[in-house]
Amino acid sequence: MKKELITILDLGGQNSHLVARCVREQSVYCEVLPYDVPIEKIIMGNPKGIIVSGGAHSINSFEALKASPEIFGLNVPILGIGYGMHWMVKHFGGKIETSSRKESIQSSLHLNSPTKPIFSQIENPTPVHISHSDQIVEMPKEFITLAHTDECAHAVIANESKKFYGLQFNPEFKQTEQGKELLRNFLFAVCGLSGDWQLTDYIEETIKGIKEKVGSKKVICALSGGVDSSVAATLVHKAVGNQLVCVFVDHGLMRKDEPEQVVEAFQKQLGMNLIAVDAKERFLNKLAGIKDAERKRKIIGEEFIRVFEEEKNKLGDIDYLVQGTIYPDIIESGTKTAQTIKSHHNVGGLPEDIDFELLEPVRLLFKDEVRRLGEKLGLPHDLLWRQPFPGPGLGVRVLEEITKEKLSLLKDADAIVREEIKKAGMEHEIWQAFAVLPPIRSVGMKDEARTYAYAVIIRAVMSEDAMTAEWAKLPYELLDTMATRIISEVDGINRVAYDITGKPPGTIEWE
Ligand code: XMP
Repeated sequence: MKKELITILDLGGQNSHLVARCVREQSVYCEVLPYDVPIEKIIMGNPKGIIVSGGAHSINSFEALKASPEIFGLNVPILGIGYGMHWMVKHFGGKIETSSRKESIQSSLHLNSPTKPIFSQIENPTPVHISHSDQIVEMPKEFITLAHTDECAHAVIANESKKFYGLQFNPEFKQTEQGKELLRNFLFAVCGLSGDWQLTDYIEETIKGIKEKVGSKKVICALSGGVDSSVAATLVHKAVGNQLVCVFVDHGLMRKDEPEQVVEAFQKQLGMNLIAVDAKERFLNKLAGIKDAERKRKIIGEEFIRVFEEEKNKLGDIDYLVQGTIYPDIIESGTKTAQTIKSHHNVGGLPEDIDFELLEPVRLLFKDEVRRLGEKLGLPHDLLWRQPFPGPGLGVRVLEEITKEKLSLLKDADAIVREEIKKAGMEHEIWQAFAVLPPIRSVGMKDEARTYAYAVIIRAVMSEDAMTAEWAKLPYELLDTMATRIISEVDGINRVAYDITGKPPGTIEWE
């Protein structure tokens, strides 16, 4: 059955997919199309409403992107957000003024007409996050103002008979506290949708798409046990079964028991065709004597590719490679319209010239959606809620030279840290909690004898996105339990320190 569709036209900026996520959260199917998509493509989808979103430039600037004005003739409700609204206003003869003030601020939205359906359940006033670098100074004919803020006379506008609406602020930002309700009102009260889409529909549609694309060809996946690639591989497996071969390279730098968990989950529980390569010695040999962190990263990345390619060559012709790219990866690398924030290198660091076509079945989803999808696909809870873990793994947490002995000490200490965090019920509120092994030994006492053993550092941080982080204010009792257990259970460690540095000035990892 064809689902009700909302089309989101992306006029640049970073936010269209955030809007898409909010729409999906309301059980409404949506697709994001670039601003210059031909009108026929939009018509083909038969959308029940269109959202025009984004914009990195001012509508008055030379670079201003413009969507096809033919959408105004399609007889469907349209919601312009920020730049999208400015574009609509200009099209209908209104005037936008560009101010020299570029910042966005927190403000209060006052509803001029609180009883309108678009404001159903919205408080008056309600907090919004609003940018006023471009503002309406002359309203287009047939549009009225429905709400304002102290700084902005026309914060919500509408042509109610045509069902065209405009918002000066971003409803998808969490600072706009009732933004989701506003979007919901647009979807249900204005567009008249019923909310007939679920994440399970995404699974079915994606599996169908992969089946059609792949046919009888062969697919390979480098499985690390990370959330995104695991969910991507599981989706592909549901579509093409044993045409998918997963290669799991055990480089010895994963956390305690993780390699066994990966094999258990994917090979035994999900029945995937998994090749587990024991490359522990190989990596250790390559890393012997290397102290520099960047050199270690490079060696681990290169060796990974080498092992992966050897396995691939043994398998013969392979046409597709599964990658667990998710939407934030795309934003960070720059989409067609979004300005690049930073270039992103996928974990595992597969070479760019590799001769495969990519299958990226979760590329339009956000992390929380990927996790929910994974739950529906039956992946283990612990795997789906795994904390972020660097591609080079413990290779960057054993500081300076990596040896078998140091790796073993670190794995045991790290396992205790994570176990205690979990016991304390804090695993979801902490962004990352782990142990670091510096090349430091110190004097201590055990069983009335002198020891000379390694110190370990506990690092636990709170963060939203790893760009900044606060050190976690763990209870003293919890730190005490961790330290006592590490020293008594891990022979070779006699001192524990807790890192109380934020990011900045520190980084989350030590190397
Ligand atoms: P930093 O240490 O830069 O880390 O504050 C930010 C986030 O990135 C993770 N991280 C890495 N991830 N390869 C990765 O895939 C790496 O080389 C790497 N170094 C750091 C880190 O765990 C944190 O979540």
